[in-house]
Amino acid sequence: MHPTTLTLTDPENQQTITLPVRKGTIGPAAVDVSGLYREFGMFTYDPGFLATASCSSSITYIDGEAGILRYRGYSIEELATKASFLEVAYLLIYGELPTEYDLSKFEHNICHHGMIDEALKNFFRGFHHNAHPMAVLIGVTGSLSAFYHDTLDIHTPEQRELSAYRVIAKLPTIAAAAYKHSKGEPFIYPRYNMRYVENFLHMMFATPCEQYRVNRLAEKAMNLLFILHADHEQNASTSTVRLTASSGANPYACVAAGIASLWGPAHGGANEEVLNMLEEIKDVKHINVYLDKAKNKNDSFRLMGFGHRVYKHYDPRAKILRGVCHRVLKELADSNNPLFELALRLEEIALQDAYFLERKLYPNVDFYSGIIYRALGIPVSMFTAMFAIARSSGWMAHWLEMMNDPEQRIGRPRQLYLGHALRQYNSIGKR
Ligand code: SDX
Repeated sequence: MHPTTLTLTDPENQQTITLPVRKGTIGPAAVDVSGLYREFGMFTYDPGFLATASCSSSITYIDGEAGILRYRGYSIEELATKASFLEVAYLLIYGELPTEYDLSKFEHNICHHGMIDEALKNFFRGFHHNAHPMAVLIGVTGSLSAFYHDTLDIHTPEQRELSAYRVIAKLPTIAAAAYKHSKGEPFIYPRYNMRYVENFLHMMFATPCEQYRVNRLAEKAMNLLFILHADHEQNASTSTVRLTASSGANPYACVAAGIASLWGPAHGGANEEVLNMLEEIKDVKHINVYLDKAKNKNDSFRLMGFGHRVYKHYDPRAKILRGVCHRVLKELADSNNPLFELALRLEEIALQDAYFLERKLYPNVDFYSGIIYRALGIPVSMFTAMFAIARSSGWMAHWLEMMNDPEQRIGRPRQLYLGHALRQYNSIGKR
């Protein structure tokens, strides 16, 4: 039973404060400390926000100890095997699974916003061919606000909804164009008669020279990957989108900020780093050398794809991906994938090691995703861009939710000041 209040006593100043406790539907309650500074003259201190709820939300629920992930109350295990990615995107945004009519209208809207302004193609030409796709994605996504002026009024619900559609619709087009630019190949336009994931794979791998038919199994595997990456509560990139939006910035600028945060190797950039790590380890016999590096505090190396701020047990998404890896690799005629075998052995050895067990470091969503992306022909440099396409649905759901939240105000954290108290300026000759 959660308490309804929490009392803090400061013996030094003989002060006592009673703070309200807010309870959610399920999961930990939250002590409302918003009045702490006003009434008690103190801040809370929580670098990295290990125990801080930045907002209330109804979109995604995670139980890190039990390895539970639910979108709007539906388990990730059910959605991953039964839904389409756009069906999940609709659920995240509107809170309910769509009827057949709702879904077909939503799919039509999203697919018909897949094109980007022709002038935007000039942006790609300004990038080096070897520009990282995430650098291109940040730049071009942010510049959408230079084109789509009819969706910059964040106080108009219709404009908010349309900008959410545009972000979800255009990220695949921008990501595929970044890939084509890196190969020096012409861009492939979106097709209105294709399904969302089919259309993305077509823009990635088709050329003007011949008919390209998307492999249905590849489409199903990518659909699963997009669902697993669609949302994840207040992770770093989603929190970045929320904090950026709190100042009233337009949605395209907020998503560009989210993409930038996602790029970090501690976050979405980990899927690319996992593949680089597996390629570097190469052989099972080298595994222990790398585990020792990961455990060595003087070595910055970390076991990429392992550990999680919230999951202190198996990431349910990693469990699903490990399960389907075999099938997908076999179906894509890549069954004796040495990297997958190496990943399985690495996981097996790490999970027998006290260092990882004591710290509850288990494989996370990034540990197996890259193996499937590679089997689908996605280059390693595009892995995090895949993550961004999928997460655009979660980012927009959170953005729309916060724009309707009466508690919403500009995010402005405070600090524990450790600098000089007061010093007098002295002239340069006396320093
Ligand atoms: C994602 O937040 C989300 O929801 C993110 C995400 C999403 O869907 O949005 O789930 C997606 O970002 C998954 C995480 C991908 N990142 C990685 O795989 C990179 C490797 N993992 C780590 O960098 C780390 O585990 C984090 C960043 C994921 C979590 O970091 P925390 O919670 O701040 O944990 P920590 O750094 O305080 O680590 C606790 C201990 C430390 O050791 P001690 O100081 O206690 O001795 O565990 C150690 C760390 O050194 N540790 C690791 C490790 N991860 C943590 N040691 C070796 N290898 C690792 N991977």
